[in-house]
Amino acid sequence: MGIFDKIKEKFKKKEKPQAGDSKEVKEKDLALESTKEEAVFDTETIKKDMKNMGVEIRLEGLTKEFVEKKTNRITVAVDNFDVTIPAGKLVGLLGPSGCGKSTTLYMISGLHQPTAGRIYFGDDDVTNLPPEKRGIGLVFQNYSLYPHMTVKQNIMFPLENMKVPKEEAEKRAQYMAELVQIGDLMNRKPNQLSGGQQQRVAIARALVKMPRVLLLDEPLSNLDARLRMQMREEIRRIQRETGITTIFVTHDQEEAMSISDEIVVMKDGVLHQKDKPQHVYNEPVDEFVAKFLGNPPINIIEGKIEDGKLIVNGKVLEKVKLEDQPIHLGIRAEFFQVDPKGRLEAEIEFLEHIGRDTMVIASIEDASKTFKALVSAQTIKDLEVGHKIRFNYSSYFVFNAETGERLI
Ligand SMILES: Nc1ncnc2c1ncn2[C@@H]1O[C@H](COP(=O)(O)OP(=O)(O)OP(=O)(O)O)[C@@H](O)[C@H]1O
Ligand SMILES: [Mg+2]
Repeated sequence: MGIFDKIKEKFKKKEKPQAGDSKEVKEKDLALESTKEEAVFDTETIKKDMKNMGVEIRLEGLTKEFVEKKTNRITVAVDNFDVTIPAGKLVGLLGPSGCGKSTTLYMISGLHQPTAGRIYFGDDDVTNLPPEKRGIGLVFQNYSLYPHMTVKQNIMFPLENMKVPKEEAEKRAQYMAELVQIGDLMNRKPNQLSGGQQQRVAIARALVKMPRVLLLDEPLSNLDARLRMQMREEIRRIQRETGITTIFVTHDQEEAMSISDEIVVMKDGVLHQKDKPQHVYNEPVDEFVAKFLGNPPINIIEGKIEDGKLIVNGKVLEKVKLEDQPIHLGIRAEFFQVDPKGRLEAEIEFLEHIGRDTMVIASIEDASKTFKALVSAQTIKDLEVGHKIRFNYSSYFVFNAETGERLI
């Protein structure tokens, strides 16, 4: 029996709509109910049906304050967060440790009650619904499988709670196990699996309820670099195949950039930017976002605006329409080119040869103020540490030195 035949079975035995189901899901249920007899399920129809399972997630003014009992000290973990996660998309939630990523997920899942604000799944206001009524699948960093249960029992466990008949539950578990490619490991115990395999069990267990929303909180952090890469491709594939709206929490910008349809960057509980990964990289709204994305991190060079001129180390680099103020000039390593007539003069401190390219670590004023430029090895072949070098740059950002706001 193929994967899609198994889903056919599932749809034939569709359960009654749940209280927390969205309008779309309810309507789909009714439609399926009425056409059950004559329904012909071909692969394309099923794929389309699954695509409809994701809903839009809308957070409005979402806020979470924690109050320490002894001191009454208040931590604002999430601060007036407004964001819309499009239906059926994979969105990476990105930010440094302690910025409120997990707290946001806990509120979406219903494990934390927000201090203020609302959460919508499609047209449904789920803010006050208990977790089990929301139709969510959750995978945490420590994937907490039940050690005494087999893979199959672990995956089936949520369905037992939902009182799904055993035969049906087994079929669904098998389908999900095949989707995450552990179909042949169903009788093993978790301690007989590799980290990546355990991770897949956790994902299958989250998906088996056919959730409207999949929430993944740093699900790959316990895996080694290679397995991480492999698993993130897997998550992307599974998400595409199921069409479930997915939020993927990570503090690894490369991971978020590589698998997300959109990324949401937050800091100190506040949303900084939400857009397609490449757009956020190319057009960061502020210095924090610019610094958070990219490896090596963007170069920040201190300078000032005076009489409409951008000045670094006493040299005029640009004419700009900005008021006099101290600024930070942001230039990514790959924006630089070696050019004998270039405007930015520096001294070579260090050369890192990386295949065809060379990373030049150069200083502007003194050795403590260095920046990195990634250039073709060919263009610096006659240069050595201690030599003067001139650069041009194809693009740059200007940030307010105090607020980090982007000015250009
Ligand atoms: N139960 C709690 N009681 C008090 N403060 C909390 C609680 N949970 C989280 N916080 C605080 O809220 C802030 C956000 O925490 P959160 O766990 O959401 O961060 P995170 O972005 O997930 O970080 P990490 O990347 O380290 O997992 C932190 O300052 C944290 O100390
Ligand atoms: Mg966290």
